[in-house]
Amino acid sequence: MNLREIGKTGVKVSEIGVGLWEYRSGPELLRKSIDLGVTFIDTAELFENPVPGEAEAEVVVGQAIKGIRDKVFVANKTNHWRRADVVKSCETSLKKLGIDCIDLYSVHWPNAKTPMEETIGAMEELVEQGKVRFLGVSNFSIGEMKRAQAALRKHKIVSTQLRYNLIDRTIEPRLLPYCRDNGITVIGFSPLGHSFQRVLERDPEDALGKVAKECGKTKAQVALNWCIRQPGLIAIPKTNSESHMVENCTSSGWQLSAEQCSFLEQKVQFRRRGELETAVRRLSRGLFQKLSLDFNRRTLTLRVVRR
Ligand SMILES: NC(=O)c1ccc[n+]([C@@H]2O[C@H](COP(=O)([O-])OP(=O)(O)OC[C@H]3O[C@@H](n4cnc5c(N)ncnc54)[C@H](OP(=O)(O)O)[C@@H]3O)[C@@H](O)[C@H]2O)c1
Repeated sequence: MNLREIGKTGVKVSEIGVGLWEYRSGPELLRKSIDLGVTFIDTAELFENPVPGEAEAEVVVGQAIKGIRDKVFVANKTNHWRRADVVKSCETSLKKLGIDCIDLYSVHWPNAKTPMEETIGAMEELVEQGKVRFLGVSNFSIGEMKRAQAALRKHKIVSTQLRYNLIDRTIEPRLLPYCRDNGITVIGFSPLGHSFQRVLERDPEDALGKVAKECGKTKAQVALNWCIRQPGLIAIPKTNSESHMVENCTSSGWQLSAEQCSFLEQKVQFRRRGELETAVRRLSRGLFQKLSLDFNRRTLTLRVVRR
């Protein structure tokens, strides 16, 4: 497994990590990924276990890393923005994870209701107190990243989480170069399109199959290796399957050729959200946040958020 530096921290982690959104396979499978060379585990206070009654992601991570804490870089995200709430949320997460310090703590989403300076200031306090090692953001625009950095007195934003996969290449023209130029690691989420079937549906000529055959790899391995061809990017696939976990963890340590990458880029249908679409989405999200409303696109439900 190849390693990549987090920001300019000098700390290196596996270029394939493991994500825990909708993860339900317990600590054993996570342990297996660590045995296979994964050192980057991505969780969030928001990640519940889809199986009712089963332990949520943070607790599962805590169980998986017990006794091997030093082998793993724990990335966690808060879904709170007010100072007191951020501090409380971090303390609750530390308890659930069973650790003294979170390696990378990120704001899951920007929030239009709370001044960025308040959230980021609270996170910097957590670093000063030794509860967090490094700070990151997630789903931030370039402007929001600049504001977050400006709000920090001593520390740096070392990473951002952004969606990146063969069928959604929105971040390529602006965000990726900005992060590269500013020493910010991109943690590419949904590297398999959130459902790998969606990627396969946008590959009508089976380009993935052809490249996979040439390399002696699987289609998913090719899709992941394509993501990490970007210098400094870490991909964090999620899986509940042991065989997929083995596949994903062995998607590093080899490289698609430039010809294979450009073949995939020509054949697999992808989208790049335009700046107007991105701006409209950000504005509507900000408006919903100001009205304390949360719209769930999957269940098509609207609810009032109490924070
Ligand atoms: N910061 C954010 O806002 C944000 C947003 C979304 C996601 N994330 C992070 O990114 C992680 C990954 O993203 P994601 O969960 O959206 O989706 P993903 O990793 O792109 O895709 C997961 C899907 O791919 C399947 N899969 C995994 N490995 C496979 C393989 N080798 N072959 C075929 N299918 C495979 C999984 O099914 P099986 O389980 O059956 O293998 C699952 O259906 C999340 O878990 C989370 O940690 C962060």
